[in-house]
Amino acid sequence: MAEIALHSLMHWLDQCPTPFHVVKRAGTVLSGAGFVATTSLSDDLPTKGYLSLDGAVVAWHLGKPSGSLRIIGAHTDSPNLRVRPNPDLITAGWSQFGVEIYGGVLLNSWLDRDLGVAGRVVDAAGDSHLFSVASPVARIPQLAIHLDREISERGLVLDRQQHMNPVWGLNAPSFKEWLLSVTGVHAVAYDAHLFDVTPAQLVGNKQEFLASARLDNQVSCWAAVEALATSQSSDNSYIVVLNDHEEVGSESSRGAAGPLLSNIVSRIADQHSLSGGARFDRAEQSWCLSADNAHAIHPNYTERHEPLHAPRPNAGPALKLNGNQRYATSARGAAHLTTVANEANVPLQTFVSRNNMPCGSTIGPITDTTLGIEAIDIGVPQLSMHSAREMCGSEDPVMLVKLMQNFLAN
Ligand code: CO
Repeated sequence: MAEIALHSLMHWLDQCPTPFHVVKRAGTVLSGAGFVATTSLSDDLPTKGYLSLDGAVVAWHLGKPSGSLRIIGAHTDSPNLRVRPNPDLITAGWSQFGVEIYGGVLLNSWLDRDLGVAGRVVDAAGDSHLFSVASPVARIPQLAIHLDREISERGLVLDRQQHMNPVWGLNAPSFKEWLLSVTGVHAVAYDAHLFDVTPAQLVGNKQEFLASARLDNQVSCWAAVEALATSQSSDNSYIVVLNDHEEVGSESSRGAAGPLLSNIVSRIADQHSLSGGARFDRAEQSWCLSADNAHAIHPNYTERHEPLHAPRPNAGPALKLNGNQRYATSARGAAHLTTVANEANVPLQTFVSRNNMPCGSTIGPITDTTLGIEAIDIGVPQLSMHSAREMCGSEDPVMLVKLMQNFLAN
């Protein structure tokens, strides 16, 4: 069971170079489990359904009017390099295209990798067509050590504008001509993202680790969709929301600060004929699990971690707490999830950052703030966060699915 599940995650990661592909993949898994694709929230909601919006998707499994909500949120986007709208460059005979840096990219990790291109093209009718070219078409070559003599003392210094444009030929067509040849669509505009074509792999002398691009945060997207797809009906209604744009602040119609989740919460309340007062009661009794990967302790940099709150691989998902509310987890939320985890036989760890090392944030505090539904931050511990290729324990993702399954059922 565990092995099958992990391979389904590896397949997911390989199939999903962009948020658009995550949404498509989520739809495929959910459709296979009887969830109905809808294009609008204005009609009656199907008992099990989902709505896709570009790089975001919200899915639900309705319970009874007397029940509360169990929400799981995660983000579909990962830091990466994106082809600019006017990308074509010729430099000293090399064909290049210009890229824009999306989110907090570890720039060095993109050097000397064989890169594919994926995303979507939008035609004159406004229709989107996904594409993914997984054969290597581009590369960002690192400068030779002989031409960068100070690198050993100074470290690698990369200029974000000058040093990150890939080469992709010597007499290449325009990028749009190439897009037409690979998609068959006359693109008026496009979203085109670079990605490392190396597939997900198990690593370690006993394959203890999983190495892949985009573990942050597709591990959580995959786990949430697996948990929802296998959910049994109960009094409670379940919602999984996968938002785009978390890596750049969540402020968009597809981001966690947008209306996607609040709209479905309110439409479910309409369908359950809940009055204003009953809606407040429901919010108070509901829980949101905000799933986003955590930092595992790095053996070469142990001093960067709070020693008593430093998660290890394959020791279970980490509860993430932060007194300054960068994470939403309260003592009440931590206690609830600990009970859920104990019942599911899933070990939990705790992540708290050092006082002199500010932590990132997640969609948890945003959901907590805007909906008034208490959120709990949780995540699989990993290394190399925001690298083009990240690493986590190979047992933790399956434990996260079990935890989420019991969170929904509880
Ligand atoms: Co993340």
